[in-house]
Amino acid sequence: MLIAIASGKGGVGKTCIAIGLAHALAEAGRKPLLVDGDLGLANVDVQLGLQPRLDLGDVLAGRCGIGEAVLRHPAGFDVLPGRSGSVELAAMNGALLVRLLREQARAIVLDLGAGLGAAQRQLAAAADELVVVANEEPTSLTDAYAVLKLHHRDAPFGRAGVVVNLVAQLGQARKVHAALDSACRNFLGTAVPLLGAIRRDPGISASIRAQTPLLTRHPAGPAAQDLRALAARLMAQAVPA
Ligand SMILES: Nc1ncnc2c1ncn2[C@@H]1O[C@H](COP(=O)(O)OP(=O)(O)O)[C@@H](O)[C@H]1O
Ligand SMILES: [Mg+2]
Repeated sequence: MLIAIASGKGGVGKTCIAIGLAHALAEAGRKPLLVDGDLGLANVDVQLGLQPRLDLGDVLAGRCGIGEAVLRHPAGFDVLPGRSGSVELAAMNGALLVRLLREQARAIVLDLGAGLGAAQRQLAAAADELVVVANEEPTSLTDAYAVLKLHHRDAPFGRAGVVVNLVAQLGQARKVHAALDSACRNFLGTAVPLLGAIRRDPGISASIRAQTPLLTRHPAGPAAQDLRALAARLMAQAVPA
């Protein structure tokens, strides 16, 4: 199961959601691999306080295998870091990464990073589920719609859904989702489901500052609960590999 997290716009919470989702899948007994596909602005390792020796850039350049670059996080998930001084984002080989990830027989959570270049589009199209993160800001909505539109073009039968981040309560997520869903219905002729909502939680920035996962530091907080619900939903609808 390959779950790719995208948004178009940066700073909407992709990395926080990718880490929380991997952690929630680990809590549920999976042994997921969290991949930082944001080679340009990789920061999964920074949020988690890891010090990678090798990274995705080394894997794509053939200097090592995925197994050598992967770090085990004590919370029960593995991390393939994306930080790289050696590989430009533009040089990321999407087809190669898709092939390498398909060889991993386990749940993968892929943080696609901001923007949607050729490699990111290939990865999004290869995903079993594309999770598009949005918030209620108009810029986030237009970028999320752009991601959905490109995905619809690249993978007309691919699955995609929306996660609304930074909500005060659930009703807010329904409004944001309704705006995206009606644009998708009107202009793409397809509906897009609401996969979940993540509440605004001060525990998130506290856990980033402490370089400790949210689900470790604030396991009972609102965002941790919402991330577990999102993981449960994705596991329930997963097509068996
Ligand atoms: N649900 C949330 N509640 C509070 N703050 C959040 C939440 N989600 C994200 N943030 C804040 O937003 C910032 C950007 O999140 P990040 O995951 O790095 O975004 P992206 O990966 O999309 O660029 C983080 O530093 C974090 O403090
Ligand atoms: Mg990020």
